[in-house]
Amino acid sequence: MTTAMTETRQGGTGGHPAVAARAREVVKAYGSGETRVVALDRVDVDIHRGRFTAIMGPSGSGKSTLMHCLAGLDTVTSGHIHLDDTEITGLKDKKLTQLRRDKIGFIFQAFNLLPTLNALENITLPMDIAGRKPDAQWLARVVETVGLAGRLKHRPTELSGGQQQRVAVARALASRPQIIFGDEPTGNLDSRAGAEVLGFLRQSVDELGQTMVMVTHDPVAASYADRVIFLADGRIVDEMANPSADQVLDRMKDFDARGRTS
Ligand SMILES: Nc1ncnc2c1ncn2[C@@H]1O[C@H](COP(=O)(O)OP(=O)(O)OP(=O)(O)O)[C@@H](O)[C@H]1O
Ligand SMILES: [Mg+2]
Repeated sequence: MTTAMTETRQGGTGGHPAVAARAREVVKAYGSGETRVVALDRVDVDIHRGRFTAIMGPSGSGKSTLMHCLAGLDTVTSGHIHLDDTEITGLKDKKLTQLRRDKIGFIFQAFNLLPTLNALENITLPMDIAGRKPDAQWLARVVETVGLAGRLKHRPTELSGGQQQRVAVARALASRPQIIFGDEPTGNLDSRAGAEVLGFLRQSVDELGQTMVMVTHDPVAASYADRVIFLADGRIVDEMANPSADQVLDRMKDFDARGRTS
């Protein structure tokens, strides 16, 4: 129900959800000659606005590369990427930095926290750089939900891996960006802390219309999403709507089986 309402509110036409990010014929190659690796091989994808999209696939299939390209953190070799109506491929550095800062939240696979800042300072850093004041009420809610209320004065080295992960999640959510990308945002959390963070991400999609894209290896994490996109060898090979953990697990077994026989 909530999903259907979000769709209408977001102005999708003919029942199609609006598109927050779009990749067309995207190729990303690293190196050249003998050492050339094609990480993305003509990828077309629409990321739906106000939805939770999971990206899955074997290690090395191009998941992080795809997210980095969609978020303007990495350039593409060829093809086009749009965020909203703005084509980001070919944008000059300054404009791209500005757009990333204003519109995108990113939760990195390695958290990328600044060691000299405490948890709260890390969370508000992107906004401080942009010269924006955090919405105190929202910030409190984010901090509460990720369970960091008692740890805000601690520096990253004084936090567990799971707590650092939660700081990284809070930092991405704090400025309420139009779109949040998470590279295994619950990869370092135990199942209970992971469920809390996933529940919060789900809630921010349902109640606030947040657009969320998440890479995960975990079928249970993927089951929080509205849609799962499967990558293999730099190509989108399948997708699934309203996935259950069991369905995702079955689909992954399928990949493994084929991987072994080919
Ligand atoms: N900077 C780089 N230079 C050369 N090759 C790279 C670079 N970054 C990634 N690759 C290669 O591109 C391919 C896709 O990498 P990517 O990091 O996107 O995989 P992934 O699906 O995120 O894997 P994982 O699940 O292990 O994080 C891999 O073969 C990888 O070795
Ligand atoms: Mg990765």
